[in-house]
Amino acid sequence: MTLTSQPLSTATWPAFARLVEKHDGIFGGCWCISFHLEPGENKRWAGRYRELKEARVRAGRAHAALVFDGPEAVGWCQFGPPDELPNIRSRKEYEKGLRTRPDWRITCFFIDRERRGEGIASLALREALQYIARAGGGTVEAYPEDYTAERTSNSFLCSGTLGMFLKAGFRKSRPIAMRRWVVVRRVPRARGRPAPGTSGARSG
Ligand SMILES: CC(C)(COP(=O)(O)OP(=O)(O)OC[C@H]1O[C@@H](n2cnc3c(N)ncnc32)[C@H](O)[C@@H]1OP(=O)(O)O)[C@@H](O)C(=O)NCCC(=O)NCCS
Repeated sequence: MTLTSQPLSTATWPAFARLVEKHDGIFGGCWCISFHLEPGENKRWAGRYRELKEARVRAGRAHAALVFDGPEAVGWCQFGPPDELPNIRSRKEYEKGLRTRPDWRITCFFIDRERRGEGIASLALREALQYIARAGGGTVEAYPEDYTAERTSNSFLCSGTLGMFLKAGFRKSRPIAMRRWVVVRRVPRARGRPAPGTSGARSG
């Protein structure tokens, strides 16, 4: 098995869409849109999340590192600047302690249900950090769950596990829910051209 990575873009949209459709739209039709929306916007777009996601991808306003096995996408790590991903979990608690907004957020993972436990989410995270570096780098925040040395339902872990992020060089900043942490790391700018679909993604 050789896994590769490509950014979510108009070119990779068909593979992304196949993976989402294989899982019935994910959570009954989320299409990985909920972190893009401000509160209340979900009602306006209900039933049209696929269309909205595709439009955002075409406009360069939805970013993810997709992991491929051959031509098939088997998972992703969603990332983007905060104005692209305003709707994090435990947002009220997060905003209470907020001093400076990060340049980037990592909000969500999804791995093909037949391919879990192979390290694909960890690979997608490393690839997302590479894309961020090539798009200019900066501070990166994520909001994973602490289930260290414990198993839980895979669907509770859409924002990843604390352990994955600590292994990827993040440090714990503050808790925002019983098991949910803000973690942060600085990613240096990488030389070379941004990956297709990630150019100009950085907000500040
Ligand atoms: C959670 C998820 C992303 C993990 O993907 P994966 O490819 O199996 O993860 P990895 O193999 O890279 O493992 C990463 C770490 O998470 C841990 N982990 C994975 N599943 C876990 C579980 N159910 N409970 C506790 N820890 C878990 C692994 O042990 C590993 O820890 P380690 O780095 O200390 O060894 C995957 O199960 C998934 O896609 N779940 C559904 C998420 C979802 O519903 N997303 C919808 C979008 S909102």
